[in-house]
Amino acid sequence: MSRGCGASEGALPAHVAIIMDGNGRWARARGLPRHAGHSAGVRPVRQCVEQAARRGVKVLTLFAFSSENWRRPREEVSRLMSLFLEALDRELDELHANGVVLRFIGERERLAPALQQRLAAAEMRTRANTGLVLVVAAAYGGQWDMVQTARTIAERVARGELSPAAVDQVCFEHHRTLAGLPGVDLLIRTGGEQRISNFLLWDLAYAELYFTPRLWPAFSTEDFDAALAEFAARRRRFGRTDEQLQADALPVATEASR
Ligand code: IPE
Ligand code: IPE
Ligand code: MG
Repeated sequence: MSRGCGASEGALPAHVAIIMDGNGRWARARGLPRHAGHSAGVRPVRQCVEQAARRGVKVLTLFAFSSENWRRPREEVSRLMSLFLEALDRELDELHANGVVLRFIGERERLAPALQQRLAAAEMRTRANTGLVLVVAAAYGGQWDMVQTARTIAERVARGELSPAAVDQVCFEHHRTLAGLPGVDLLIRTGGEQRISNFLLWDLAYAELYFTPRLWPAFSTEDFDAALAEFAARRRRFGRTDEQLQADALPVATEASR
């Protein structure tokens, strides 16, 4: 989705997405309450943002809170929300000074009004920046995202702006939440689980998946670089054959690599 075609050897992912998992287990292993793990998870967020920008990654998408995480104990949810607000307030000036463009995706209406206002203000303040695009997925679910896109398209069809026959893959691509940004090239999940947990669905279509047992609070810039190195060694075929990739003088755009 994000690149023309071919192998990624030696390449840098334009879009990295991270499922930041393992905070609770990190805390439990130290005899601490779960929220201590969430607090300790702020530092690797800052480090990954800095490292992504340093390495030349264009877009970094972080999964902060899923649609399903509302099912957690009320106390944990409320601590996570406070932490989110505090971290945003504390980091915003520096992110802005470093040219970062902030975007938030998810069911914002479910967040506290004060948080919703801060998110909108942060987006407004950083929108003309030209550096790393940092997407934070909060109260986010990939299925919710797909439904949003489908509804937007359906509304346009109902208004007569779009014909049903024009609803194809390219049309969907243009209406998705992250329209204008490249699809995910590399998905990193910390904490050892090997699943998507309702994170980006459309955008992960051709992502390289990288799972590490490292718990999120312990994830370092070296770990981030190790994931980039693994990505650079992967061969992305986008449906084609190795022979085609070797004779890759003529780029052939595939459905998935568009
Ligand atoms: C990820 O860590 C943070 C959120 C989901 C908000 P967890 O809290 O899921 O940590 P584990 O998986 O229980 O260790
Ligand atoms: C996924 O982690 C969501 C985030 C990291 C924000 P979970 O810990 O909620 O995922 P499951 O429940 O183990 O699949
Ligand atoms: Mg978890």
